[in-house]
Amino acid sequence: MCGIVAYIGHREVYPILIKGLQRLEYRGYDSAGIAILNGNLKVYKKAGKVSDLHNFAKDHDTSGHIGMGHTRWATHGEPNDRNAHPHYSQNGRFAIIHNGIIENYASIKAELQKRGHEFKSDTDTEVLVHLIEDIYENAHVDLDEAVRLALGEVIGAYAIVILSNDHPGELICARKGSPIVMGIGKEKGEYFVASDATPIIEYTNNVVYLNDGELGLIRNGELTVKTIENQVKTPYVQELEMKIEQLEKGGYEHFMLKEIYEQPRSIWDSMRGRIDASKGFLRMGGISEYENKFANAKRILIIGCGTSWHAGLVAEYLFEEFARIPVEVEYASEFRYRNPVITEDDIVIPISQSGETADTLAAIELAKSKGAMIFGVCNVVGSSIPRATHAGAYTHAGPEIGVASTKAFTAQVTVLTLMALQIARHRGTITDSRFHQLLNELEALPSKVERALETNAQTIEIAKRYKDARNFLYLGRGYGFPVALEGALKLKEISYIHAEGYPAAEMKHGPIALIDAEMPVVVIANKNDTYEKVVSNIQEVKARKGNIIAIVTEGDTTIKTMADYVIEIPETDDALVPIVSVIPLQLLSYHIAVMRGCNVDQPRNLAKSVTVE
Ligand code: G6P
Repeated sequence: MCGIVAYIGHREVYPILIKGLQRLEYRGYDSAGIAILNGNLKVYKKAGKVSDLHNFAKDHDTSGHIGMGHTRWATHGEPNDRNAHPHYSQNGRFAIIHNGIIENYASIKAELQKRGHEFKSDTDTEVLVHLIEDIYENAHVDLDEAVRLALGEVIGAYAIVILSNDHPGELICARKGSPIVMGIGKEKGEYFVASDATPIIEYTNNVVYLNDGELGLIRNGELTVKTIENQVKTPYVQELEMKIEQLEKGGYEHFMLKEIYEQPRSIWDSMRGRIDASKGFLRMGGISEYENKFANAKRILIIGCGTSWHAGLVAEYLFEEFARIPVEVEYASEFRYRNPVITEDDIVIPISQSGETADTLAAIELAKSKGAMIFGVCNVVGSSIPRATHAGAYTHAGPEIGVASTKAFTAQVTVLTLMALQIARHRGTITDSRFHQLLNELEALPSKVERALETNAQTIEIAKRYKDARNFLYLGRGYGFPVALEGALKLKEISYIHAEGYPAAEMKHGPIALIDAEMPVVVIANKNDTYEKVVSNIQEVKARKGNIIAIVTEGDTTIKTMADYVIEIPETDDALVPIVSVIPLQLLSYHIAVMRGCNVDQPRNLAKSVTVE
């Protein structure tokens, strides 16, 4: 959730930290701070945006070649200057930045207070730097050893970086449950540390991902990796494929809009090399190895959070329709705490854009411990979830920076469709003609999404009309139901308008009571087997003076006569409708949020990567 960046090398550190924090701001953005080690340890921190920090720090001495920065998403202690990171130790000779939660901080704090430590913030983090200092001074050990011993006493999740006046050429980082990636600079002795690769990619492609329970120590220009149990590890250097242009807005006003418009391309990227309709070819490398396991699975359990959970709901329909395997979709946070029945015949599919969601990671570990095979669907290459799973498929949507997920969702659904079809083919649960029809439709998706993007002007008109609504209802049936949930989530995330998604037929069991002349109701009403039923639902809304915004199949004339607004989307197979129909909903929520003056890319209270439970 929080973002971490640190540097040691020949360059001036301040611009690297500020730029890095700006790139990381999507992870958390209520306060930010930096520490620079140059003779002594200087800390500058401010509540607000990274730009507020920069305005404050630029008039101070920021020279130096070693430093670290942090952008915070508050857990313990409200967002203010005092609680912003970095935090000093008692004597001010150590400073720490931290992403995660130290769960036993209260008992450690009480113990340290008895020994005379005084705390300046309300954070759990400050306790850790005091503990490190306490061990350093009383056990007379090296800094890295003090960090290692302190981490042995800590319960919880962390990614940390430590600097100390006493060790001016050293930078120490460690991770457990929260990500850390280290960049190896082109010049000898130059290293970067960050929560993800976005602040690093500008300088180097060579990275080392720390594993859980590992410390990275940079000393005398050399990197050493060891475990908290003090076992030295050989760092595994990987090459990143990310490009710096992917992290820029590319002329768009917001990342979210750029990412919405990238979808024809990102959907294609998620299929690239995996299908060829002209040859009847469909193959996902990760699945092929486990084809028999999938074919014999008694059940598929899908876990995820937020938008990824919605992609999981679409997958439930896909796997059951095509592969005929029973599917359950679970919120990772519920699954992990409710003693679920999991057997070795189950396949668990965690879905995650970031690959770092704490609840999803914990659910994976639980399912693994019960012997299930775990097949991840993830966007961020090299992140924690793909590393924790037995096998998986990347969605290849490219970096998603806007907090509200858009292109990651459509890429997830595309990949899950490919998976369902490959498994169905192997199990013989799909006819040849249906299989080929779907491959053709999949290949046509990018151009259909391109056309769905042409509804932009219309969504602006609708946004103008309803931007001040207090509530929205989204309805859909079958494949349209998860889209209704996703549309509602998009709206509430970025415009702060209350919105609910419902299966259209459930409306009469509750939400219909909310309908009056003020209530906009968005209905996914494409032509399919339940079309007539959805038309009846629309009439039920109209009979109560509700406002209908209908997403219909191109050429639909029936709904035009009853809806207030009709958005036509290209016809596609019912199973692929979520990918096309979600586009106008993303645009609608985007424009409403902009018109309401909301911060679209960084909505209040939300974070892109939720690394705490
Ligand atoms: C946060 C993000 C959502 C995302 C969810 C799950 O809430 O703001 O956009 O859907 O986490 O994240 P994941 O990275 O696991 O897909």
